Amino acid sequence: MMPDSPSENPFMTGPSTATPSRFEHVPLAVFQSSAEASQAVARDIAALIRSKQAEGRTAVLGLATGSTPLSLYAELVRLHREEGLSFKNVATFNLDEYYPIQPGHPRSYRHFMQAHLFDHVDIEAGNTHVPDGSAPLASVDAHCREYERQIEAAGGIDFQVLGIGRTGHIGFNEPGSARRSRTRRVTLDPLTRRDASGDFGGEENTPRHAITMGVRTILDARRIVLLAWGQHKAEIVRTAAEGPVTPQVTASFLQEHDNVHFVVDRAAAGALTRYRTPWLIGALADQVRS
Ligand code: GLP
Repeated sequence: MMPDSPSENPFMTGPSTATPSRFEHVPLAVFQSSAEASQAVARDIAALIRSKQAEGRTAVLGLATGSTPLSLYAELVRLHREEGLSFKNVATFNLDEYYPIQPGHPRSYRHFMQAHLFDHVDIEAGNTHVPDGSAPLASVDAHCREYERQIEAAGGIDFQVLGIGRTGHIGFNEPGSARRSRTRRVTLDPLTRRDASGDFGGEENTPRHAITMGVRTILDARRIVLLAWGQHKAEIVRTAAEGPVTPQVTASFLQEHDNVHFVVDRAAAGALTRYRTPWLIGALADQVRS
C-alpha cells in the first residue's frame, strides 16, 4: 500500500519537505504499482468530497481521460458502491475533448467519462462538464470562453487530476503552449495523434484538433495531482520533474504550482536521477565526494 517508504511519500503528508537528496523540482511519490497509487489518490479525493459535504458545499474536480486514470475511476466507483461515497455534491470539468467529435462517438472523451465514471456513481448529469467537440467551428471560441466562465462560477477547481502525454502535454497543451493559455481549440502534435491512432483505427481517422483547458486554467486549480504509469512515461516524467520550466514541456509548468504532486509507479520513476544514477545524490554523493 505504501510507496518506497513513508518518508519518501510527500503525497500523503502534504507539500514536500524538500530533501536535498532529490533532483526533482516537484513533490513526487513513487508507488510500487499503479493500483496502490490510484487507491491513495482516490482516498484523497473521497476525503475532499466528504469534507465539502460536511460543509454543505460542492467539490469541484478537474478530470482527465486516457488509460492512466482508469484505475483511479474504478476505485472511485468502488468507494461509491461499497463505502457509500456520494457524488451528489460533486461538479466535474474535464480537461479536453477531441475536435470535431460527436459526444456519442465511442472515442469521445464524453463517452469515456460516462462509461468509466459518471454512469456508475450518483453524480447529477448537469454537474458534469466536458468541452463540446460538436460545437460549430464559428462558435468554438465562445464555447471555450463559456467553459472558463462555468469553472469560475463553480468556484474554481479544488482538485485537478492530470495524466501526461509523451510530448509532455497536460490536457492537450502541446509543446509551445503559453503559460497564460486558457481553454481553446488546438492542433494536435503528430506524436499525440500517433499515440491516439489505435483508438481511431488509423492516423487518417484520428482528429487533428482538440479543445483543451489552457495551462493557466490548470494552474488555477487549488490542488493538482499528475499521474503516470509505465516505463514508456519514464523519460517524460524525468523531463517534467527535473528539467527546466519550458513551454516545450507544458507539464514542467507544474513546478511553479504550490500544491502539486506527481504520483507515479516504479516503472514511470525509472529515469529519475534518484533511480538511474543514485550516486549523484544524497549520502552516496557525499561518499563519492569524500
Ligand atoms: C491524451 C489526453 C491527456 C492524457 C494523455 C495520456 O493526450 N488528452 O489528458 O494525459 O492522452 O494518455 P494515457 O493516459 O493513455 O497515456
